[in-house]
Amino acid sequence: MKIAVAGTGYVGLSVSLLLSQHNEVHALDIIPEKVEKLNRGVSPIVDREITEFLDGNRNGSHPLDFHATLDPREAYADADYAVVATPTNYDPKKNYFDTSSVEAAIDAIRAVNKTAWVVIKSTIPVGYTAQLRAQRGDERILFSPEFLREGRALYDNLHPSRIVVGAPMDDAEAVEAAQGFVQLLAHGADPAELVRKNRDGSLGIPELVCGLTEAEAIKLFANTYLALRVAYFNELDTYAESRGLDAQQIIRGVCLDPRIGSHYNNPSFGYGGYCLPKDSKQLLANYADVPQNLISAIVESNRTRKDFIAQEIEERVAGLDHPVVGIYRLTMKSGSDNFRQSSIQGVMKRIKGKGIDVVVYEPTLDKPDFFGSPVTHDLAAFKQQADVIVANRWNADLNDVAPKVFTRDLFKRD
Ligand SMILES: NC(=O)c1ccc[n+]([C@@H]2O[C@H](COP(=O)([O-])OP(=O)(O)OC[C@H]3O[C@@H](n4cnc5c(N)ncnc54)[C@H](O)[C@@H]3O)[C@@H](O)[C@H]2O)c1
Repeated sequence: MKIAVAGTGYVGLSVSLLLSQHNEVHALDIIPEKVEKLNRGVSPIVDREITEFLDGNRNGSHPLDFHATLDPREAYADADYAVVATPTNYDPKKNYFDTSSVEAAIDAIRAVNKTAWVVIKSTIPVGYTAQLRAQRGDERILFSPEFLREGRALYDNLHPSRIVVGAPMDDAEAVEAAQGFVQLLAHGADPAELVRKNRDGSLGIPELVCGLTEAEAIKLFANTYLALRVAYFNELDTYAESRGLDAQQIIRGVCLDPRIGSHYNNPSFGYGGYCLPKDSKQLLANYADVPQNLISAIVESNRTRKDFIAQEIEERVAGLDHPVVGIYRLTMKSGSDNFRQSSIQGVMKRIKGKGIDVVVYEPTLDKPDFFGSPVTHDLAAFKQQADVIVANRWNADLNDVAPKVFTRDLFKRD
């Protein structure tokens, strides 16, 4: 089967490599350097499994039918499915996702291929696909939410928590195409997943073909739940800090309840990354005219947390002459090279707003400054220069300056 993929970022590239084990896959991007790198077998992003797959393809140990291209005809003509994995950034002026890249990709697909099933993998507002189908009179558009984590993008597709594809449930042909896409994704997964035992006793990868708009809602409600969980443990930590209590002890005790569980409970400076901030804001926008308290509280809680963290840092440098705050990494997670919407940037902005000098240690950033603050790759000089070192996530690099470090990474993980 020929499958086209628009976009070779975290989502597009991992889906492309997964599917190219058993299908002919053509992945299109609009950035020539990305396409050129991919055709040399080099990953444009940091991701262990993506690198292993590309290495295996290059040296012949794990051959893939994978081609990267800039040419829409080569990618899209004759494709049976065309997956769209382009960005949907949150537009703060419109209070909505900017879906223009999804529409541009679909225009390019339809210019050369009227029959391919378009599967949108980008995260979109609830109701978007049905509206787009109606506007365009195009009945061959489906939506499949993507649940991968950055840095584990291909791993999460090889070991999927679940596969969900949305289609209009009253359209038998579309439902069949959705089921076909579920099978394609499942076939690419690690074979061990097909016989795994799930917590509810079922076997294999949970699969769900559901309504289009319901599938869109599943994505935004799942991410907003994750944001809620992060915000909850962060507010617990804010309380403990403010009252002089040991947050780690409280979290351990709370999470011993098996209904709560001890996963995803490590405090941070706020939830961040490309998805949780924008997806929770989009869900809030979708609630227009629908009563709610919780969703706006989640969005608000993340701002309050960053205000609190910034205030804690300011208190640590109060009284010093010309204090310098060191930002240790701009990334959101340890082991990542991505700092889109990382919470430490919000903290940095607040500290700088108070007139405090900031220096940034970020080895993956090849620029002399970041929003006007100097960037260094020299860790020793950075440690010397900073009066307080602010780290969203702990790293052994910081062991020798531990008393200077401000972090809320209580469990030194994720
Ligand atoms: N990153 C994640 O963890 C994650 C997880 C789930 C869902 N998503 C969603 O998936 C979508 C893509 O996210 P990502 O992280 O892979 O983005 P990304 O920025 O890493 O990659 C997007 C790619 O699309 C390319 N592109 C832009 N316009 C294009 C066009 N018209 N045609 C072809 N390619 C085009 C860009 O050049 C870029 O390489 C977003 O909607 C995001 O919300 C992301």
